[in-house]
Parts: sequence; C-alpha cells; structure tokens
Amino acid sequence: MFLVTGATGGLGRQIIRILTEKEMSVRAFVRLNSTYSELENRGAEIFIGDLKIDKDIDKASQGIEYIISAHGGAGDAQAVDYRANIELIDSAVKVGVKHFVFISVLGANRGYEDSPTFKAKKEVEKYLKASGLNYTILQPSGFASNLLPLAERFRDTGIYLLIGDSKNRTSIVSTDDLAKISVDSVSVEAASNQILPVGGPEIIYRGEISQIFARIFNREPIVINPPLFVFDGLRNALGLFNPELQKTLGTLRVLLANEFFCTSEEIENLERIFEMKMESVESYIRRKMEV
Ligand SMILES: NC(=O)c1ccc[n+]([C@@H]2O[C@H](COP(=O)([O-])OP(=O)(O)OC[C@H]3O[C@@H](n4cnc5c(N)ncnc54)[C@H](OP(=O)(O)O)[C@@H]3O)[C@@H](O)[C@H]2O)c1
Repeated sequence: MFLVTGATGGLGRQIIRILTEKEMSVRAFVRLNSTYSELENRGAEIFIGDLKIDKDIDKASQGIEYIISAHGGAGDAQAVDYRANIELIDSAVKVGVKHFVFISVLGANRGYEDSPTFKAKKEVEKYLKASGLNYTILQPSGFASNLLPLAERFRDTGIYLLIGDSKNRTSIVSTDDLAKISVDSVSVEAASNQILPVGGPEIIYRGEISQIFARIFNREPIVINPPLFVFDGLRNALGLFNPELQKTLGTLRVLLANEFFCTSEEIENLERIFEMKMESVESYIRRKMEV
C-alpha cells in the first residue's frame, strides 16, 4: 500500500488519480478541513491527520510499503517541510517501507539563505539519503498547473503579471508528468537511490509565458512587469507589521530572482529512465483548458 502526503495538493491529487486508475491501494493523508471527497470517490483510503502531529504520522505509516511525500507547508517550513518529513522518514524506517519518494525542489542544494523551504528540502534530502531506505528524490522546477489560474485571467483580460527579470530561464514541468514519475519511481530500477531534476522539455524565458498565452488564446498580451525592487519594497514594508510573513515571502523572492531549469541532458536522462516524453507547457495548458 502507498501512503501519499499532500494528497489534496496540486501534485498529490494527480498522484492519487494515477494510483487509483492503476487499482493500487493508497492511503491519502488529509486534513479534516481540506476537500478530499474526490480522493475518497476514486477509491483512496482516507487518513485524517495533521503532519505537525508525530502520532498521526506514525499511525498513518502502519502497513505501508511505499511513501510519496508530496506535501508543502505554506508558511510553516520548519514544522511541515522539515520536521514532518523527518518524522515520516523515521516512521518509514520503523515499519520497513520499501521505497520513499520525496518531492524536493530544483535548486535545493544551492543554499538559498532567504528561503526556509529550500533549506528544509536540502536537509530532508540529506536525512533521507542517510536513512538506509530505498529512495528517489525528485527535484522539480515550477509546476505547469500553477499557470492555469494565470491563463484563465489572461483569457478573460489579456493581462499577464510578471514580477522581476523576464530573461530568467525556467523549464516548467507538466504536473501530470511529475505525478507519473513520482508513482513509477518505486518500480523503475534506474530511479532507485537517485536524485533527479525534473523539468519540461524546453527551457523558456519567463517573459515567453505571455507569448504562449497569446498563441493559445489568440489575443495580444498586456504585460505588467514590475521590477524586483518593487516586490522587495512591499516585502520590507509588510515586515514592519508581520515579520513572519516577511520571512515566508523569502521563498517567493528566491523563485522570482533566480533561474530554475533542467539541462537537455537531464531531460533526456529522465525520458530514458521513465520511458516517456515530457509534455511542453503549451501543450499542457491547451489540454487542461481545452483550447
Ligand atoms: N508548486 C510548485 O511549483 C512546486 C515546485 C517545486 C516543488 N514543489 C513541491 O512539490 C510538492 C507539492 O507541491 P504542490 O504545489 O502540489 O502543493 P500544494 O498544492 O501547495 O499542496 C500542499 C499540500 O500539503 C498539505 N499540507 C500542508 N500542511 C499540512 C499539514 N500540517 N498536515 C497535512 N497536510 C498538510 C496540504 O493540505 P491542505 O489541503 O489541507 O492544505 C496540501 O495537500 C511540495 O513539496 C512542494 O514544495 C512545488
């Protein structure tokens, strides 16, 4: 049986869809306040808990063979991105889990001091590698599903908001491809004990996203492009009232200010290991928005 954390998230929902379509048994770790009926209707076993509570993690891990850690801790990196994963790894060792898949982030090893999330991912990677468990660490770039609300706004208004340098490169990954890779990682021999960067098939400038939208929706883009110092100014001002929020925004700052892309060799390696072709961001958006 699989245990999937973050089962109600953008990636987690796709992982549950694939597992249940394959008729594999899966326990979805969800919070009571989240929307999880779709997962239950698909046939997932629902475990209600909170990843901040060690006892819940221990209980959810009973009888589990495979764990896919796909949760993220908006606003509480220490408790959710770091500690919950450490507890999950310890529980996995205790119950003898066969394979642990950890969703990290591209650039986790770059040591961004401003981002608690990046630091947590780096530390969890280290802990998992030293745990003795079979593991696969996936380091994805930005998810294509994040673009869907922006695509909807563009379709309705033509507006695209781009903060920071439009020449920063990215290789946005189809969330569906990443979900398939996450599931296949436990059975594909070549993925065992590997750290794999995961991106889409092409490297694009962030500024090109508005052109992709323009092609898809056949309308001229209105690009609003404030420079990064405007974001910094707002963040500093917010920090006067809410220092915690200012720290949390560090991860967004890192994402806006840096490049996150995979090399063509890394993508070829991924396609060879998982015997698949990665989907382009344009194809993903067209498919999801049925245009
Ligand atoms: N999105 C990206 O572009 C991107 C890029 C690289 C890496 N990643 C990584 O990929 C993973 C999945 O990202 P995502 O965008 O799919 O995440 P997401 O949509 O933000 O979902 C986060 C998930 O974590 C769950 N969660 C948070 N705190 C929890 C707690 N205390 N107890 C139980 N569950 C909790 C949420 O549950 P609720 O529904 O209850 O809130 C939700 O299911 C994360 O590890 C993220 O860091 C994301």
